[in-house]
Parts: sequence; C-alpha cells; structure tokens
Amino acid sequence: MDKLFLTLLATSILLSASAATVVAAKSTLTQSSTLAGDQTLVSLGDIFRLGLFPAVNRSRWFLGIWFTVSPDTVVWVANRDRPLSSPSGIVAVSGARGGLVLLDGASNETSVVWSSSNSSSAAASAAAAATQAQLLDTGNLVLTDKDGNVLWQSFEHPTNTFLPGIRVGKDLRTGAEWSLSSWRSADDPSPGDFRYVMDTSGSPELHVWSRGRRTFRTGPWNGVRFSGIPEMTTFEDMFEFQFTATAGGEVSYQFRNRDGSPMSRVLLNESGVMQRMVWDRSSMAWINFWSGPRDQCDNYGRCGAFGVCNVVDATVCGCIRGFTPRSPVEWYMRNTSGGCGRRMPLQCGGGGGGEDGFYLLRGVKLPETHGCAVDAGATLEECRRRCLSNCSCTAYSGADIRGGGSGCIQWFGDLMDTRIVDGGQDLFVRLAKSELDAIKNTKKFRVVIALVITGFILLLLSLGFLTWRKARRDKNVSVLDESGDFITECPTYPFEIIRAATNGFSEGNKIGEGGFGVVYKGQLPDGQEVAVKKLTKENKVQGLKEFMNEVDLIAKLQHRNLVHLLGCCIHCSERLLIYEYMSNKSVDAFIFIERRRATLSWKKRMDIILGVARGLLYIHKDSRLTIIHRDLKAANVLLDDDMVAKISDFGIARRFNSSSGHQDCTITDRIIGTPGYMSPEYAMDGKLSFMQDVYSFGVLLLEIISGRHNSSNLIAHTWRLWEEGRNLELLDPAVRCECTAGELEQATTCIQVGLLCVQESPDQRPPMADVINMLSREKALGQPRRPVVCTPMSATRPAVIVDDLGVEGGTTTCCHNGRLTITDLEGR
Ligand SMILES: *[C@@H]1O[C@H](CO)[C@@H](O)[C@H](O)[C@H]1NC(C)=O
Ligand SMILES: *[C@@H]1O[C@H](CO)[C@@H](O)[C@H](O)[C@H]1NC(C)=O
Ligand SMILES: *[C@@H]1O[C@H](CO)[C@@H](O)[C@H](O)[C@H]1NC(C)=O
Ligand SMILES: *[C@@H]1O[C@H](CO)[C@@H](O)[C@H](O)[C@H]1NC(C)=O
Ligand SMILES: *[C@@H]1O[C@H](CO)[C@@H](O)[C@H](O)[C@H]1NC(C)=O
Ligand SMILES: *[C@@H]1O[C@H](CO)[C@@H](O)[C@H](O)[C@H]1NC(C)=O
Repeated sequence: MDKLFLTLLATSILLSASAATVVAAKSTLTQSSTLAGDQTLVSLGDIFRLGLFPAVNRSRWFLGIWFTVSPDTVVWVANRDRPLSSPSGIVAVSGARGGLVLLDGASNETSVVWSSSNSSSAAASAAAAATQAQLLDTGNLVLTDKDGNVLWQSFEHPTNTFLPGIRVGKDLRTGAEWSLSSWRSADDPSPGDFRYVMDTSGSPELHVWSRGRRTFRTGPWNGVRFSGIPEMTTFEDMFEFQFTATAGGEVSYQFRNRDGSPMSRVLLNESGVMQRMVWDRSSMAWINFWSGPRDQCDNYGRCGAFGVCNVVDATVCGCIRGFTPRSPVEWYMRNTSGGCGRRMPLQCGGGGGGEDGFYLLRGVKLPETHGCAVDAGATLEECRRRCLSNCSCTAYSGADIRGGGSGCIQWFGDLMDTRIVDGGQDLFVRLAKSELDAIKNTKKFRVVIALVITGFILLLLSLGFLTWRKARRDKNVSVLDESGDFITECPTYPFEIIRAATNGFSEGNKIGEGGFGVVYKGQLPDGQEVAVKKLTKENKVQGLKEFMNEVDLIAKLQHRNLVHLLGCCIHCSERLLIYEYMSNKSVDAFIFIERRRATLSWKKRMDIILGVARGLLYIHKDSRLTIIHRDLKAANVLLDDDMVAKISDFGIARRFNSSSGHQDCTITDRIIGTPGYMSPEYAMDGKLSFMQDVYSFGVLLLEIISGRHNSSNLIAHTWRLWEEGRNLELLDPAVRCECTAGELEQATTCIQVGLLCVQESPDQRPPMADVINMLSREKALGQPRRPVVCTPMSATRPAVIVDDLGVEGGTTTCCHNGRLTITDLEGR
C-alpha cells in the first residue's frame, strides 16, 4: 500500500516535471495556458528566457527576461515596483484583466501584481483583445491580438538595459518616452537613482540624470555620432547606430550589431555609468567594451559655465578664451563649480569697438544644447550671421558634420559642460572685438615662435622673422594710444591667498612704501616668498590703466636684470602685483645708509651698475617691446640674494615705437617721474625719449659710486670735482681706500660715463649700448660738457606726479646752464 502510494507520488512528480518541460519549451503563451512560478518561456532559438527570478537575498521575486547563456544577466523586469514575496506568481494572457498579467498565486484572490496595461493607457484599451504573448530571439516580449497586431512589447518599456533594436527617445506626438532607469542595487531591480533619457529641448542628446540633476551627457547627435563620444566612429564596424529625428514626431536612438547577433547590450549600472558590453563566446563572459562617463571631464558641468575641461591638463579646468574665473579663490582651491565670466562685455553692434566676433574653440564636445535654437537647414555662414544679429546669442556651431558641415545650433546663455575630446567639433564662441584683436596678436606671436622653434629651414626662419617684424609693427600701430589691448599673460592669484600670505597686509610684513603703494613681504601656501605691491586705493594716478600697463609690460619681459612678475590680482578696488621676493631690498636701502653702504665693495657696485645698464639695454632695444622705463631710481633697483640688480616698477613705463629706426625719436607726454632723475627736456617740456632713462641711469650711477643722494646737488658736485681733476674724491670713502689701481681707473671711467649720461642735450648722451661698451672700455669716451643741474625745490617730496587733469606734484627748480629757471608744472 505504502509502496503503491510512493509509486503514484513518484509518477505524479515525473508527470508534472515533464509537463513543466513541455511548457518551458514554449516561446508563446496563449489565453488557454499559464506560466507557473517555476516555469519559463523560452525564445525559439533559446537565446532569451522569461520567468520569475529571486532578488534581495531571495526575499523578493520578479518577472524578468534574461540571457539563456548568462542567467544572471537580466535585461528586462516587469514588476519592478511590486515584487512577489515568493515564487508563487502566475503569468497569464488575460484580455479581461489587462493583457499580459502577473498574478500573485499565494493569495486566495490571485490578485494582479503587474499587467502590460499598467504601462500605458493606449495599451490598456487594447489589452482586451490580447490573445497571445511571445518571447522573441531579440529579447522582445510581444503581446498580439488574434490578427497578429502588436498590442504591447517589452522593447517599448525598457528597464536598465538597452538591447539591439530597443529605442531610447521620445515620440513628440503621443508623448511616449523610452528611457532607461538603473536598478537600486546589483541585487535589487527596483528603480534606482539614475535615468537615461533623450533631451529634445535643444539639439537632441542623451543625458543621465540622478535625483533631478544631470550627471552625464553624450553631447548632441551630429549626423554621425554623439558629439561627446567620437569613439563611436571606431565602433562602426561592429555596430550600426541609428538616429531618428522626424520633425514633431519621433526622436530616437538605437543600435544593432552588424552581424545581427543579439549578444550585446548597453547597461545603465547602479553607479550611473553606461556600460556597453559584448558577449565573448570563448570565455563565456561579458566584456566591457566602453563605458561612460569616461573620466572626470565627463561629469556634467565639471568646470562650470564657460569653463573647458581637459583631462590632460594638470589643472583640468580652464576658462574659454576671453573668460576668467568668476570666483578666483574657489577656482584656485579647485572648486570650479562657479565657472567663468566674460572679461570684456559684448558690444552687440552698439558703439564702442564695433561689432563682436567669434573665437573658434576646436575639438570639443559641444556644450549642453538645452534651450538652443536648432535649424538643420541653415548653412554655417547663415548661422554666424544669425548669431551676430541676436544679442543674446553666445555661441554657434554646425548641427551636422557630414559633407563639410551644415545646420545651425545657437546657444543663448551660459555654455555648460564643454570639454576637449579627440575628434571633437568646432564651437564658435562670441567675444567682444577688442578681446579678439588681443587674441589675434598673441596668436600671431605664438605662430612665429613656433616657426622659429621648428625652424629647420633658413628660409622659413627668415620668413618667420619678417612676419614677426610685421606683427610687431602692426602691434606698434596701436601702441601710442595706450588704450585697450590689456590681454595679459599674467597668472591671476586669488585675493584670499595673497591676503593670507601677507598676514592680512600687516604692518609687520611691510617692506617698502612708495608713491604708488605699499610693498609687503609674503609667503604663498607652497612656501615661495613673494613681494606683494598693493597699489593705494586713493591713488588716482596709478589707476587701472597704469596697473594694467605694468602687468602687461612686465609680464612680457624676461631678463636677468628685470624683476620677475609672478602674477597679479584684482579684487574690487584692490590691485596687487606679486613679484619674486628680493631679500636684499632696493639699492637705496644700501647706498644711502651709512652702515650698509660700507658692505658694498667696488666690485659689487660695478656689478650693480652694469646689471642696471644691461636691463635698460634690454628694455630699450632687445625685448620684443621697446620700452622707456621713465622712473629709474635707486628705489626701483632691487637686489636679489646674490646682489644681482633687477629693475622694477614699470607702472609708468611707456611702450615706444622704435621700428621707425630712430632710437632717439621723441614724443611729448605728460610728465610723471621722480625729480632729480628727470632729464631737463622731459621735466620741462615733457619730451620723452630713451635718453630720459639714460639720464636717470647717469644719476643713479653717480649715486651708487658716491653713496650720496642727488638731492644734495650731486651732479654739480661731480662736475666741480671733474673740472678740478679731483674726480676720485667723489668715490664713497667706504670703498675709496680699498680700491686697487685698476679699480680706481675704472672709477674714473665710470664717473666720466656718468657725466656723459647727464648731459643737457639728449643728443650728447650715449645710448645704453654705448654706455655698456664704455663701461667695459671697449669704446672710447667722449669728453663731458658742463651738465645741467636740476634740483627739486623740496628734496623731501618723493615724486612729481602730474596726471592728465592737473597737478599733483609741485614745482621744479631747474638750473639751466647756470640760468635759474622756475618751471611751474601747473597749467600744462
Ligand atoms: C542574506 O541572507 C543571509 C543568510 O540568510 C544573511 O546572512 C545576510 O546578511 C543577508 N543579506 C542581506 C543583504 O540581507
Ligand atoms: C483562502 O480562503 C479560505 C476560505 O476563504 C481560507 O480558509 C484560507 O485560509 C485562505 N488561504 C490563505 C492562504 O489566505
Ligand atoms: C496595474 O494595474 C492593476 C490593474 O489594472 C492594478 O491593480 C495595479 O495596482 C497596477 N499596478 C501598478 C504598479 O500600477
Ligand atoms: C558601473 O560601471 C563602472 C564602469 O564599468 C564600474 O567601474 C562600476 O563598478 C559599475 N558599478 C556597479 C555598481 O557595478
Ligand atoms: C564652490 O564655490 C561656490 C561658489 O563659486 C560655492 O557656492 C560653493 O559652496 C563652493 N563649494 C565648496 C565645496 O566649497
Ligand atoms: C534672439 O533669440 C532668442 C531665442 O531664440 C529669441 O527669443 C529672441 O527673440 C531673439 N531676439 C532677436 C532680436 O531676434
């Protein structure tokens, strides 16, 4: 009896098992059959299976589709929101209950957990006619009516996986949307944080979103590929990418394997990463073929508005040309979310420097096109014209790169999420004309530099030289009006960094004070010592123009005998210049202080004099700009650790057009400078030439060797001694007795050169090149005549400062060849 019972039981188990096999072999479910919890639907070629699978530690059950060869790879899930608590679900085709349904068999009422009509209202109305559901070899589960019309298909409702033939996009007419959403975790198919959707508000592009924020963009479709994923081109022999955009209709993207195989997929994983994977038959595993975001520059908005991200750049983030960080302190601290702001406002056709233009930014993933105007029919030229004529247009680019480019995308606000990619596109960014002119000039110069560096052909070299000369001449055309052209190569420092470096500009850090501001010693976070020149706010004279002048000039000058500008900083009305720190301060701190003067040997003095002479020669002749310093004095010659002299303070320096060939050409300019160092023709008539600096150099030279201030009528004193043949008495007593015979001879030469430099007539002063040759006695010296003697009425006044509007200084008394002239600078 027992045996019989057991046999019966065994038979019934066998029977039910074979029944299950029969059902499992089916790819189709009809109204007359159901699929129980442990049964699966199998596609005809047994590539995909549909059934219940467990998740979350086998505590929840979901209806899903997976690859037969890789049962863990679930590509679609039905009841993501309402899991079953046991594998007792039943799948059925029931027109009355909503098409394809999943019933919970554990409850007495067999309630509907999920139905295909849940997905859309259209499906709901059609569901009543449903007669069969079939799992295809593509992985698509299709519900049809008795005539074979498709009522519903799983491909229209993707979950986290994109299979060949699935569309991602929108139907603008019906409002239907095909998007992906990630799983909550690898073991939980319920909807997670990330969504992958088509943004159709500008030029269509795919975005990954997380909790209301974009995290990754593919860039707009450019006819061939997504702008930000140029590597798609190299996948083309494996995949066929298809982008559909019918006006007002469907906008969608899909891919197919070229070999027709369904064994590849794109997954939006739980970390929000798109992973393209292909099945490798030999290793029986999925291979990650590509994934995005690829690097930090793919993180949406990494560098903020108008920023450009470049992974190979050490700083990663930069601003588009013509833009600077909006919040420099944060930017310096690597918080670039604030983005960049426009340096010069757009003209937009209205007055000023004429029309705006466009800066071509090459090789980028186009910025986010949300809110852009797109016209596939326009040409690039038309696009440019349209952008220029609409004041709110900030950039444009071609919409389709095929056939040389066509179509038009116009941006109207911030340019977000621009990055450099290999094989990227061209973006035309609108800039003010003045900004573009400046870029053009720098570019020209760079081109020439590049030519010279690569200059293997002599012809090329000389050609390059000609271009350079031309570029230089072109530049000089605008030099004499000092306006505009403030493009600098000066790195900006955040104000907070500088404030911290100088202990909040404390008295203790003060190392000097001049007519134009206070100089502080500071230490940057990296330990480098710097001198920070803080221009006084009240100083009307050294306004922004002078500040930019100094920055612009000195940033372009590089010479051993010129102080090196490290950077600059503009903060509200504060203007700061950051220089290398000179531990030995300025020459005046040596020569006019008894105790320190004694430490300056003759050789050191000669080195300083020669150093200043070389620095001057460089700015007069050899630099790429030709400059009159205009304010050379002991306080403006700094000494580094090795007592090398460096000329500083280019605040009132003047670029000078010397391409006409005359070193001695003269212009008339407002009079700014330091009395005692000003040549008579400049102090009285504002006649400025290189000879002004030669005069100042002569005064400085005499001061250095005598240790006396010019205010005490040094020139007259020197001349008297010279006439009486007692010139060596001029020498600072501290060195006089230590000098060798050769040094005394050198001193005589020096004094003679000094006197030649302070001759009344500029023609009688030697140019700096001659001065250097005379000092090294490679050139014969002329006989000096009686020099002009200028003394300021008040020697304590540091500077005579005259601006365009009027006088800020005082009067200068000039003794003209013995004639006493009083020049009132007022009214000039
Ligand atoms: C899953 O179940 C095992 C044993 O039943 C338990 O040790 C483990 O903590 C569970 N994991 C989770 C995530 O609940
Ligand atoms: C099903 O319903 C019957 C009577 O209506 C009840 O006795 C039984 O406990 C129910 N079973 C479950 C699992 O709820
Ligand atoms: C799906 O539809 C059924 C019946 O139409 C309903 O009972 C169920 O709550 C719906 N499920 C969801 C997740 O909307
Ligand atoms: C998502 O994909 C990336 C790239 O392949 C991978 O590093 C990351 O671990 C994945 N995340 C999860 C949760 O699997
Ligand atoms: C980054 O800078 C922005 C302003 O540019 C600021 O609002 C934000 O708080 C900063 N974030 C961090 C983490 O410092
Ligand atoms: C500029 O373009 C914007 C956005 O398309 C548009 O709203 C605005 O009317 C245009 N302005 C002009 C003057 O064409």
